[in-house]
Amino acid sequence: MKRLEGKSALITGSARGIGRAFAQAYIAEGATVAIADINLQRAQATAAELGPQAYAVAMDVTDQGSIDAAIAAVVAHAGKLDILINNAALFDLAPIVDITRDSFDRLFSINVAGTLFTLQAAARQMISQGHGGKIINMASQAGRRGEPLVAIYCATKAAVISLTQSAGLNLIKQGINVNAIAPGVVDGEHWDGVDSLFAKHEGLPPGEKKKRVGAQVPFGRMGTAEDLTGMAIFLASKDADYVVAQTYNVDGGNWMN
Ligand SMILES: NC(=O)c1ccc[n+]([C@@H]2O[C@H](COP(=O)([O-])OP(=O)(O)OC[C@H]3O[C@@H](n4cnc5c(N)ncnc54)[C@H](O)[C@@H]3O)[C@@H](O)[C@H]2O)c1
Repeated sequence: MKRLEGKSALITGSARGIGRAFAQAYIAEGATVAIADINLQRAQATAAELGPQAYAVAMDVTDQGSIDAAIAAVVAHAGKLDILINNAALFDLAPIVDITRDSFDRLFSINVAGTLFTLQAAARQMISQGHGGKIINMASQAGRRGEPLVAIYCATKAAVISLTQSAGLNLIKQGINVNAIAPGVVDGEHWDGVDSLFAKHEGLPPGEKKKRVGAQVPFGRMGTAEDLTGMAIFLASKDADYVVAQTYNVDGGNWMN
């Protein structure tokens, strides 16, 4: 028995990386998945690769009109929305004295406001359908504590954990479970970019930061997107009906709370 048979899911930022792996895993469990991304061309290519249960949707989570249009596109395509993963996010890095307002506004707009207002639009749709739903927010180990060069990103992910708690408590009465996943360090294109930024700011050769963070993980290596899919399936499934407002670390043992 597939665990997400007949479900309709929307995953933001799923043209690549972790979101793409979630989409693939959800499809294998029987769901239909909207590959929603600001990069429509890549979303279309990903949807084509993932097969007929995937379809591309243009979506910029910083734009309310785009959020509303994406939810409408899901309802038009699949007739309903059962699962949302708020996955789209941006990373940046700078010492405190060099942080810019532009970087602050950009990261909070995507990682925090994007998460909240996509969650809100999805919750409105789920409430109108009358049979609850599942919402999963992507937090991070970065939201569990500060890091010397990563103040803004860490603050956005702490905000995601907090929003998950408030929204989880508020929406469970309508049968909507809101929970979050806090990954550690996950290899992929995202971390290639993070590695380059650390190389610049810490004077490291390319690839060195990745090597170091991987070696520090108690499990013994960086995570892969596929390491996270089990938790994403669980939180979207009936098995998680009694799980409310929680953030789960899936990080090879990097953080305990
Ligand atoms: N990779 C890691 O090590 C790691 C660790 C902890 C948490 N996370 C979180 O997991 C999630 C996925 O990370 P990833 O590594 O796959 O990132 P990624 O950078 O590979 O993918 C992000 C996707 O979001 C899309 N996107 C960017 N801005 C958008 C916008 N305004 N609207 C819609 N889509 C937009 C991008 O086009 C891209 O496809 C993020 O929330 C990230 O913060 C990642």
